[in-house]
Amino acid sequence: MSKHTTRMKITKAIIPVAGLGTRLLPATKNVPKEMLPIIDKPSILYVVEEALGAGITTIIFVQGRKKNSVEDFFDVSFELEHTLKKQNKNKLLKIVQDIQKINCVSVRQKRPLGLGHAIYCAKPVIGTDPFAVLLPDEIMIGKPNTTKELISTFEKFNQNTISILDVNPSDTSKYGVAHVKPLKDTIYKVTKVEEKPKSSNSTWILPGRYIFKAEILDIIKDVKPDNSGEIGLSSAINILAKQEKIIARQCKNKRFDIGNKLGLLKANIELGLEHPEISDEFKQYLKTISY
Ligand code: UTP
Repeated sequence: MSKHTTRMKITKAIIPVAGLGTRLLPATKNVPKEMLPIIDKPSILYVVEEALGAGITTIIFVQGRKKNSVEDFFDVSFELEHTLKKQNKNKLLKIVQDIQKINCVSVRQKRPLGLGHAIYCAKPVIGTDPFAVLLPDEIMIGKPNTTKELISTFEKFNQNTISILDVNPSDTSKYGVAHVKPLKDTIYKVTKVEEKPKSSNSTWILPGRYIFKAEILDIIKDVKPDNSGEIGLSSAINILAKQEKIIARQCKNKRFDIGNKLGLLKANIELGLEHPEISDEFKQYLKTISY
């Protein structure tokens, strides 16, 4: 690999939002799950903030139909800005203006044909650059920034790098599971991934944070659809694993899977307990509940 490639900065992140969010129906019937709030912010903003905190300067949303509200959220809200200015609500005005400054690009996934396919839809924007992928139904809270850590591992090893998280064996059937061999400290070599296995002898799941070289796009292009017609990301990762071109870094962050009812509720409770405006009252309220 040339020195030029090794030094290439990662500035683009793909955030796929074209899924149907069926586990959160009916809330997601015409509101994208990424716009459901955790306290006072739509969940997508937590993920975008993680990307920006990792040095990303261009966010690429892969959108489906009915997902315009994600794009609109990052667009200028002229009336709102005007009204907040008139009312001297400067703190709120700044929050709104900061969101509008974020540099976003949208591409369409015309049919929800799987995560691999969604990522491939961003190829015209990615070109030949390495890039990050952040799945918006997983949010990572606190420091260190998971994507930032992955980028630094990618830069150090010049290898495709994915995040892995150790979970209870009972949870592995809900996620992609990685089989790995230790390399150094929190870094592992990925030997195989399985998509939602009924049971597995690995407890390392993929919590939805990845750094890839553009080569994965060519691999995805040749992946055959599975029985349900979807082009998964796991098949492409397995090809990289066979070629010994992919490593993993252990994620030690607090993480919430907010793509399901319980996870979304847990995130609201835990972040509510920490929220400076409501934390004290919320704690008092919780003490009054009996169950
Ligand atoms: P999931 O399969 O977990 O999400 O995809 P989903 O399809 O939205 O939700 P359920 O399972 O029906 O409740 C993980 C991520 O990949 C995106 C989703 O938007 C989600 O962020 N995705 C998935 C796409 O963008 N396109 C797809 O074809 C599939």
